Amino acid sequence: MKKLMIIGASGHGKVVADIAVKNGYEQIFFLDDNEDVKECAGFPVVGKCILAADNEDDKIVAIGNEKVREKIQKNLKNLVTLIHPNAVISRRVKIGEGSVVMAGAIINSDVVIGKGCIINTGATVDHDCRIGNFSHISVGAHVAGTCEISDRTWVGAGAVVSNNINICEGCLIGAGAVVVKNIEKAGIYVGVPARYLR
Ligand SMILES: CC(C)(COP(=O)(O)OP(=O)(O)OC[C@H]1O[C@@H](n2cnc3c(N)ncnc32)[C@H](O)[C@@H]1OP(=O)(O)O)[C@@H](O)C(=O)NCCC(=O)NCCS
Repeated sequence: MKKLMIIGASGHGKVVADIAVKNGYEQIFFLDDNEDVKECAGFPVVGKCILAADNEDDKIVAIGNEKVREKIQKNLKNLVTLIHPNAVISRRVKIGEGSVVMAGAIINSDVVIGKGCIINTGATVDHDCRIGNFSHISVGAHVAGTCEISDRTWVGAGAVVSNNINICEGCLIGAGAVVVKNIEKAGIYVGVPARYLR
């Protein structure tokens, strides 16, 4: 019986559990540090995140905060990559361990996605892009061709990154922003065209 441990019993964790079921996992359980949370998406929360270390089951970290996700993931083994069956992914795409690709996402040819990434519902990543470790392309966001998005950068819901753009590590691109110039300084960027907020 395929068994999966999901670390993080949040809304994001629910969606990850759904993808896991569609990937044939029959036994799913969660870990979460909030002792008040006893179940998630109908699956039990069996203890705190610390229990993930030294565990031999397949596992994935379903925590939206990229720093927390990285901190937990880097101590774990048997990490899986989960891809929703209704995601469209070119045969020439590489995706790192611990990453998840949600329903309706499209990833085109020659893209490299790092480890611990989230390619969220309906997001698109076009040809020849590089998405760094622990980055998140949010729901409905679009990254055009030949972009390089470095580690721990979060592209917000519905944001657009124009083609041939580089975004440095540690950025947050606000919901609905349109990035038309390279971003070389970590920070939060919002608006059309995207401007530095802080
Ligand atoms: C960018 C963001 C992080 C800023 O949040 P914040 O630090 O709490 O900022 P505030 O709400 O205090 O707003 C500060 C200013 O930026 C503006 N602003 C905030 N988010 C903005 C956005 N996405 N686009 C345009 N302007 C935005 C506010 O209107 C405000 O402007 P003002 O000072 O003229 O009133 C947040 O708004 C955002 O877009 N988060 C992404 C959420 C998301 O995409 N989730 C996806 C989950 S899959």
